[in-house]
Amino acid sequence: MEDSAQDFILLKKHVEQLLKIQCSNYKEDYIKRRFLSRMRSTNSSTYAEYLRYLKGHPQETEPLRNALTINVTEFFRDKEVWDEVKNVILPALFAQKKRISIWCAGSSTGEEPYTLAILLHDALVNHKDWSGVITATDIDEVVLAKAKAGVFEEKAIQKLPTVQVQRHFTKRPDGLYEVKPHLKELIRFRPHDLMSGVPPARYVDLITCRNVTIYFTEKQKDDLARMFHSALVADGYYVMGKTEYLGRQVEDLFVAKNATQKVFMKRDKAAPPKTP
Ligand SMILES: C[S@@+](CC[C@H](N)C(=O)[O-])C[C@H]1O[C@@H](n2cnc3c(N)ncnc32)[C@H](O)[C@@H]1O
Repeated sequence: MEDSAQDFILLKKHVEQLLKIQCSNYKEDYIKRRFLSRMRSTNSSTYAEYLRYLKGHPQETEPLRNALTINVTEFFRDKEVWDEVKNVILPALFAQKKRISIWCAGSSTGEEPYTLAILLHDALVNHKDWSGVITATDIDEVVLAKAKAGVFEEKAIQKLPTVQVQRHFTKRPDGLYEVKPHLKELIRFRPHDLMSGVPPARYVDLITCRNVTIYFTEKQKDDLARMFHSALVADGYYVMGKTEYLGRQVEDLFVAKNATQKVFMKRDKAAPPKTP
């Protein structure tokens, strides 16, 4: 047996004991991709090196746990935030301009960008002179390909109202549900690493980056917030995941518009000095 194959088995056994999860519940290829993502983040070049790192750094346990559940997503995840996008953010943006640009960062298997596409489509339907584009990006090209195909199992769409399913999905003979072209046409899927420091689009009006940074270091999170700030237009919006937060170093770059739903607006001018 190759060394690396044996090291992979040793790492998997250790992870199973540490996290009390059954790696065999997942496809081996998936587990390997998740390990590789943590190996990159911890500068470990082999499974053996990562195993040593994991044993010596208890703070790596949670990032690894999150990495293994990393692609989890759903349509209209945290419904209230999408009500905010629909009722507040999109109307505010279209009050200023007729064409808007949205960046869905960490789009996983597509449920979030298609959620945005449903809301955008509904806004465009009654305004023929309005338009918009969604750039959906992810570091993981496997989930990106799935997202681009836009084919979902019934359980993925079962919480959607029937009228929405009928309007936006086609039930295929194999029982799967495919997103209709009018939604697919609104989205450009692109591979992109959020740690690259370079945004895939500029002059963006709305960025959603939800449930992605949970295992980033504080510095990586701050760098990301600065990159989002640079990619947004003045008064552009940034929507984070419910459990995510802006670090002290970067919180002045944004104004909280809805703190509960983690909706922020780019602060364009220098922030006023903080009162003690
Ligand atoms: C838990 S999913 C979140 C999906 C969706 N945003 C949501 O909230 O339902 C996190 C996604 O972030 C992606 N991701 C993780 N690190 C990334 C990075 N450095 N650059 C781009 N995407 C990344 C993962 O591949 C995964 O698809």
